[in-house]
Amino acid sequence: MTAPGLPMAVPAEGLPPRVRIHEVGARDGLQNEKGVVPTEVKAEFIRRLADAGLTTIEATSFVHPKWVPQLADAEALFPQLADLAERAAPDVHAPGAHRASGGVHLPVLVPNERGLDRALSLGARRIAVFGSATESFAKANLNRTVDESLAMFEPVVARAKDAGVHVRGYLSMCFGDPWEGPVPVDRVVRVCRALLDLGCDELSLGDTIGVATPGHVRSLLSALNEAGVATPRIGVHFHDTYGQALSNTLAALQHGVTTVDASAGGLGGCPYAKSATGNLATEDLVWMLHGLGIETGVDLGRLIATSVWMAERLGRPSPSRTVRALSHKE
Ligand code: HMG
Ligand code: MG
Repeated sequence: MTAPGLPMAVPAEGLPPRVRIHEVGARDGLQNEKGVVPTEVKAEFIRRLADAGLTTIEATSFVHPKWVPQLADAEALFPQLADLAERAAPDVHAPGAHRASGGVHLPVLVPNERGLDRALSLGARRIAVFGSATESFAKANLNRTVDESLAMFEPVVARAKDAGVHVRGYLSMCFGDPWEGPVPVDRVVRVCRALLDLGCDELSLGDTIGVATPGHVRSLLSALNEAGVATPRIGVHFHDTYGQALSNTLAALQHGVTTVDASAGGLGGCPYAKSATGNLATEDLVWMLHGLGIETGVDLGRLIATSVWMAERLGRPSPSRTVRALSHKE
């Protein structure tokens, strides 16, 4: 591999000085793989991501193993990460905090009390519930209506908060849904409000099928603000199906968002399955952020080496443009 390059840093007006990257490759990425990645490979992947400077790395899901067999090894994986989780990471927004503390948060997905019991028994300190703005996806993903899902989350969030556990509330299909088409902004706002009213600490707005465009992102963020949701509580989660993830991210940053989800190497989906694509690639995000002079704490060269390593394990190249450009062999 040639030595990785760096973008020239040219700051632009009206952008945050730092962004917290919420890395989802080991969860959102690997849950979509056709094959099951060995537990030891997942553990090493997460370790390498931490060594590359990522401080929030979603580790796995405590969901029904039949629904997501790719992550059925959560009980075996999570304890292998104990030493990473023990490194305290109090404030990842603080300047230089990433490197100074070496701390890593390891959130896990939890849909219900059974999942919460499993996560708490292994010492998880951050969980995420995951709702849907549309009825079709709520049924497909959680076997519940939207309101039944919220009722399922209620005791999960309450018990997690009692235990001092940080709770993220994902919301899928915030922009469009494969069965229902475009999703009205007011419907998204209603479910976001409901997740916060349950006690979620932060939201992550999911563009699950990657159909959002920047104006739509701005209009949803403004509507959330008007409904009393403060921008610091909002993260964005873009999938890159239509190549819009970076433009959408820039729109969100201009609005003041400082938490961005991304997946190392653009993991997720399968290049052989029609229209299945992964999240915004973390490397592509870091290239843009560093080019804008925005601090992330991430070492781009190490991150690319990690994604190249993972791509070798998966037997296919990373779809990330930045990984391809900087790992090109002469
Ligand atoms: P269900 O079939 O309705 O479950 O599934 P149930 O509540 O009727 O329980 C049936 C059995 O499952 C019971 O066992 C439970 O104990 C067991 P039995 O008594 O019959 O022997 N069970 C569990 N076992 C282990 N762990 C659990 C668990 N829960 C129940 N947590 C359920 C409901 C929620 C469980 C199921 O639908 C499920 O696991 N769904 C998960 C789907 C998923 O993980 N999707 C991917 C994540 S979301 C995403 O990727 C979007 C995101 O990236 C944002 C974006 O892009 O939009 C976050
Ligand atoms: Mg996702």
